[in-house]
Amino acid sequence: MATAITRESYFWHKLHSLTGIIPVGFYMIQHLTLNSFTIAGPEKFNGVVRFFSSLPPHVLYALLIFVVWGPLLFHAIYGLFISSRAMPNLSNAAYRWRENRMYTFQRWSGIFVFAFLIYHVATTSVASKVTGNHEMIEYAAWQHKLTEHGYIWLIVYMMGVMASCYHLSYGIWNFCIRWGITISEKSQVRMQKFAVICFVALTLLGWGALAGFLMHKPEASEVHVARLLPL
Ligand code: HEM
Ligand code: HEM
Repeated sequence: MATAITRESYFWHKLHSLTGIIPVGFYMIQHLTLNSFTIAGPEKFNGVVRFFSSLPPHVLYALLIFVVWGPLLFHAIYGLFISSRAMPNLSNAAYRWRENRMYTFQRWSGIFVFAFLIYHVATTSVASKVTGNHEMIEYAAWQHKLTEHGYIWLIVYMMGVMASCYHLSYGIWNFCIRWGITISEKSQVRMQKFAVICFVALTLLGWGALAGFLMHKPEASEVHVARLLPL
């Protein structure tokens, strides 16, 4: 019985690890890349939003359920379960190694990303599908939202992007050890450097996407719906 439980948790842990990279990690990289179309202007960003909303519903929902929502939900819920059992050792001076801090930050970033994504998905994807109004996730609405209330939502988004990028980048390093891709100490140090580059590059990509919302005037036809974006 004990073996069965251990074996089962081993399987779910491996699946949790895999879903962090495929498909969730890949989804986030493509998502931030497409969002960075804001830098090229409102028409380019709105083109992406309109492309997804023009997909036949059976294709769109199959993609969302099997590639995005399903794996993300599993990864998030199992991740919260792992975090609740984690023993970070951060308060013990003898264990205050860099790896130990990075391990703890990954769990904290997971919890923060969880809260951020509930808010983010509810106010974008879910809200636009429930109301049938896709303009509420187009350029003008984002510009309005990110600049109102003293830029508070811009700050929240910058933190959400940074936490997600840290979580994924540290995750890539951990994943390579867990799956036996980096075995020697030298290869693990090399992968750590790569993870740092990933963290900086992905954060800049996401922040660039957010900066893009402040760079241009929205399309005239969209301005009237800008205030519809729910908070
Ligand atoms: C630069 C900041 C971001 C912007 C401008 C942004 C924009 C959007 C938009 C417009 C949607 C709605 C898509 C649609 O319904 O067609 C969306 C959905 C979503 N975003 Fe983001 N996002 C950002 C950051 C993130 C981050 C860091 C994550 C972390 C993984 C994330 C995960 C998601 C997920 C899971 C959905 C729901 C997928 C769907 O139903 O289409 N987003 N985002
Ligand atoms: C939504 C809330 C999330 C929570 C609560 C969460 C939680 C966790 C936890 C606790 C771990 C460590 C597992 C371990 O070391 O045993 C982890 C690993 C990981 N997460 Fe997440 N995560 C979340 C979202 C995400 C997102 C959005 C991504 C991708 C952008 C992601 C990618 C990864 C990766 C790549 C790993 C490393 C897998 C490994 O250790 O082998 N996670 N997550």
